Amino acid sequence: MRDEHGYGQMAAQLLAWYDRHARALPWRVPPGGGVADPYRVWLSEVMLQQTTVAAVKDYFHRFTTRWPTVHDLAAAEDADVMAEWAGLGYYARARNLLKCARAVAAQGAFPDTRAGLQELPGIGPYTSAAIAAIAFDRAETVVDGNVERVMARIFDEHTPLPAAKPILTEYAARLTPAARPGDYAQAVMDLGATICTPRAPACGICPWRGPCAARASGTAPDLPRKVPKPAKPIRFGIAYIGRRADGAWLLERRPDKGLLGGTLGWPCTDWATTAPNDVPPTQADWRALDAEVRHTFTHFHLRLSLRVAHLPMNTPGEFVAADAFNPRDLPTLMRKAHALAAPALGA
Ligand code: ADE
Repeated sequence: MRDEHGYGQMAAQLLAWYDRHARALPWRVPPGGGVADPYRVWLSEVMLQQTTVAAVKDYFHRFTTRWPTVHDLAAAEDADVMAEWAGLGYYARARNLLKCARAVAAQGAFPDTRAGLQELPGIGPYTSAAIAAIAFDRAETVVDGNVERVMARIFDEHTPLPAAKPILTEYAARLTPAARPGDYAQAVMDLGATICTPRAPACGICPWRGPCAARASGTAPDLPRKVPKPAKPIRFGIAYIGRRADGAWLLERRPDKGLLGGTLGWPCTDWATTAPNDVPPTQADWRALDAEVRHTFTHFHLRLSLRVAHLPMNTPGEFVAADAFNPRDLPTLMRKAHALAAPALGA
């Protein structure tokens, strides 16, 4: 980085850019508008982990309409929260969300320091820093994927991720200003999301084009470097989509621990790298569909074969009545299975 650009001056340049170009987001107050509601900041930051702003907006609106305060959310039924979360993925986040809301409601309000926030369920180093900065204007350093990319470029850091993480965090801390740290944290994220993008960064219009070391050396599009991830294995499973004569669906709630923990879905075999044993949840005339569901999880690709059956009224198991069933309440994998199976069941 060029010497004439002190860190304080860089922060001021970025804040001036943010004052003009901040994205209007439902959980934000406008630049310079003070601090935001910690409940909305917390909820948005938990939703935004591993998920894009575009995907989060509708969920955020539905959650805050249905549960306007942390106290409302704390009083919600687990199943209602899991249903509203369905489709966002990483369901441990939803279970921790409820635990956290209940802990906050019990103590009356969100703690206003990073250390205090980090004691809450599901709040790690990223989320605690984001809430402390954005909702309480504390000078904490917020580091997500966008910030890592921006720092790798500004400092032309070639150490690959994940080893680069502490280095990039240290760079980010150097730049964090004492004034307007909440706006600054969001400004770096907006810069990463709109200008300092992964491919084809728009360096020509970047407020930090002067001090950016990677721009000077032409390496910006190649940073941050990353150690390649191992290829994902393919796993196989079978899902059983059963519909009773009155239109009710045979569903089951998965145990809290493990993949899709706590979510509602179709009874399934285990998902293994070898062919699954075809063991249906109940005796019936199960018919195999030609179509299969393909879905990718963090650590593997899943190919889910489908079996469908019309079930008699005396079938044992947990049924959801036709008028209470909404495929939106299911995680995406299970929604895809429903979309393929429903026509075969006359639904
Ligand atoms: N990504 C995660 N949190 C964000 C925020 N507060 N502003 C912009 N992008 C974000």
